[in-house]
Amino acid sequence: MNRTLICPKCKSPLTQTENTLKCGNNHCYDIAKQGYVNLVLGSSKGSGDDKAMCQSRHKFHSEDYYNCLSRRLSEICIQNNCKSVLDAGCGEGYYLRMLRDAYVNQDKSFHSLCGIDLAKEAVALGAKLEKQIPEEHRIEYAVAGIFDMPIADNSVDCLLSVFAPVPDKEAMRVLKKDGIMLVVSPGEKHLEGLKSAVYENIYDNETAQKDFEGFTLYNREYVGDTITVQGENIINLFHMTPYYWKTSEKDAEKLNSLSKLTTKIEFIISFYKKS
Ligand SMILES: C[S@@+](CC[C@H](N)C(=O)[O-])C[C@H]1O[C@@H](n2cnc3c(N)ncnc32)[C@H](O)[C@@H]1O
Ligand SMILES: [Zn+2]
Repeated sequence: MNRTLICPKCKSPLTQTENTLKCGNNHCYDIAKQGYVNLVLGSSKGSGDDKAMCQSRHKFHSEDYYNCLSRRLSEICIQNNCKSVLDAGCGEGYYLRMLRDAYVNQDKSFHSLCGIDLAKEAVALGAKLEKQIPEEHRIEYAVAGIFDMPIADNSVDCLLSVFAPVPDKEAMRVLKKDGIMLVVSPGEKHLEGLKSAVYENIYDNETAQKDFEGFTLYNREYVGDTITVQGENIINLFHMTPYYWKTSEKDAEKLNSLSKLTTKIEFIISFYKKS
């Protein structure tokens, strides 16, 4: 594993001695038993997902339902020769794992894959899976905020932001000169089947295009599929979405009686270049 993370206090490189990461100024950070490091200094903006949401997302992603998206993101990274990729708001790291597998299966080299998220539970779930991976192919994980990232200036080829807040100013800082930013958001019909199973009237998702200062939108593409979700993953999927918070108990209960649910999934990948 090549290290992307730096000391959040003094911005110096970190080196590992046993279970500790240390910078040249003797700032130390313990590596948790699951394999991640906590680099939050105490005043990070925003908050991460709760434990139950992280676990639901982990179980759902372990069945690879969003394969059409992970495959396409991996293709884009490989086509654009992105050797160091940072997933900002990585959750439990599904897209990084799929990218690593694509690199390894195609016998292509990469420099570093790093995921940061404020949700400790999510980062721990992802990091734990890395123990069975050969050292040189491991993903590096940290609990850290995306609006003040412990990542050096001009050090990353691709910043990935999937269904997470977009840290555009930090992206501008950490991306190399020709770096790219891939932002994934839901398409109009994303989870239409799930919404129909819960609500009487459903509406398309809003898909307004976002501009980020200093970035040029180079391409915007749709990726989609129809999936059939089985058993407890129906509730896990629901738990991953903002509908979970907005839906009455009575409506949400409608999902309990289903053994499978067929739904459209639709993603927009917005591809930005530093301009
Ligand atoms: C909808 S989830 C998406 C997770 C992952 N990208 C995926 O698609 O599986 C959004 C993630 O952003 C994280 N997040 C939200 N605000 C954050 C912040 N300020 N710093 C770091 N992570 C944040 C949450 O903890 C959560 O894991
Ligand atoms: Zn330091």
